[in-house]
Amino acid sequence: MKMKVGKKEGLSVILYFKNEDCPSADLKPMMEKEILKGELGEIYTLLEKETIYLGLGERAKLNAEKLKKAFFKLGRELNRVKATKASAEIPKFEGLCIAQTHKAVAEGLLQSEYRYDKFLSEKKPAPTMEEFYFVVSEDKAKRVEEKLEEVEKMLEGVFFARDLVNEPAMYMTPTKLAQSCVEMLSPLGVEVEVFDRKQIEELGMKAFLAVARGSAQEPKFIVMKWEGDKESEEKIALVGKGLTYDSGGYCIKPPDGMATMHCDMGGAGSVAGVMMAVAKNKLKKNVVGVVAACENMISGDAYKTGDIIRSMKGLSIEIGNTDAEGRLTLADALYYAATVIKPSQIVDVATLTGACVMALGSYTSGAVTNNKEMMESIVKASERSGDAVWELPANDLYRDMLKGSFGDLKNAVKGGAGTITAGLFLEKFVEEIPWVHLDIAGTAYLSKAYDYLPEGATGAPVRLLYYFLKHGKDCAKEEI
Ligand code: BES
Ligand code: ZN
Ligand code: ZN
Repeated sequence: MKMKVGKKEGLSVILYFKNEDCPSADLKPMMEKEILKGELGEIYTLLEKETIYLGLGERAKLNAEKLKKAFFKLGRELNRVKATKASAEIPKFEGLCIAQTHKAVAEGLLQSEYRYDKFLSEKKPAPTMEEFYFVVSEDKAKRVEEKLEEVEKMLEGVFFARDLVNEPAMYMTPTKLAQSCVEMLSPLGVEVEVFDRKQIEELGMKAFLAVARGSAQEPKFIVMKWEGDKESEEKIALVGKGLTYDSGGYCIKPPDGMATMHCDMGGAGSVAGVMMAVAKNKLKKNVVGVVAACENMISGDAYKTGDIIRSMKGLSIEIGNTDAEGRLTLADALYYAATVIKPSQIVDVATLTGACVMALGSYTSGAVTNNKEMMESIVKASERSGDAVWELPANDLYRDMLKGSFGDLKNAVKGGAGTITAGLFLEKFVEEIPWVHLDIAGTAYLSKAYDYLPEGATGAPVRLLYYFLKHGKDCAKEEI
């Protein structure tokens, strides 16, 4: 559905609130009998009057996330009743500017349209909604229109990420992932380079190649460049874990843990997704996405525990567990980013540790950093976007845990704090550049839908990355 500024058309959406006067006589009997109470996301559809009532809970407690949740439900209802057009006038709420309010409403509505049903014989019903009109005063119309367009384009990036991650590993191979990036991003002005095995060997990416060795699929190293501000020296590198499948290798995963391991390229998916969002919105920033894509499999040639491998940086790594493969591929991808791209900041995004799922579950990503100021910007972008993050402690006590006996580092560390030690392993390869690591093991892929996020791939943290790239440390409120 297209988000538009315009006049009342189609179904009228009327908002009502908990503990407030009823906005219409039609609603009154329902509220008096307490069948309707004005709870958040409560919906009452009166097709014969061309009206839909949407409850928003207590006015004073409303925020952007709540708006998204409520309007997500409204979007579903509009399509359920096969509406094609609807309109609403959204008031100004305390603590939210008009831009934030309209963006949240548009996002909620658009989130309701995502579906991944290509393998189902019986398709999910296609959305019928064509246009949603926001009634706004003339002086604000242009700004609101711009914001609506921005959200639409950002969500196209989120949905692109979801599609990449939902695709089964039998189709979404490293080669296919690279092809999808070329096909979807180059027409938008993103320069996409794909390095094959020979070129990866020439770059000396021995850690990445060690992981890729057990697979019949060719590894690919993908570099995506968006040059939105040619005058600026500033450049941000985004590095995504790109395991198109993680069986665990010889330290094989149990069946339950393995079933969804096509999501182990969730970091790569979100990097590709945010490149799309950035390019579609023509962001005035320089951004480089980097992905080392391969599979972690078993074969007579696969890497083994006890192996001591090398890395592009030259550090040697003792393999204590072949299932701790993400940090090996990322070590080379990060070192490449740090030394070849030479960015001013690096964010890496990875479905890196089961420990993160234990600690934070499905609602919050874990974060580790070498730079407090940059972390603050990430937290602000998180608050603005709805992609939640939580910073984990990092100090030399944890760093010491990474020391190997016969190699410089070990890839699997005993003693708990698995998410922190995995993050600090990566820190060794960023060459002191300001860096934040986001562990999205719990947030990239859901076993059950919640709020506006679907079962399967969520596209996290495309929205966070988008706002971080757009606003950096000035992630203050935008005001209209
Ligand atoms: N890809 C997994 C992490 C993961 C777990 C992602 C659950 C999504 C959901 C990663 O490669 C892994 O297996 N990590 C090991 C590391 C350990 C062996 C040190 C883990 O967390 O168990
Ligand atoms: Zn693994
Ligand atoms: Zn993995």
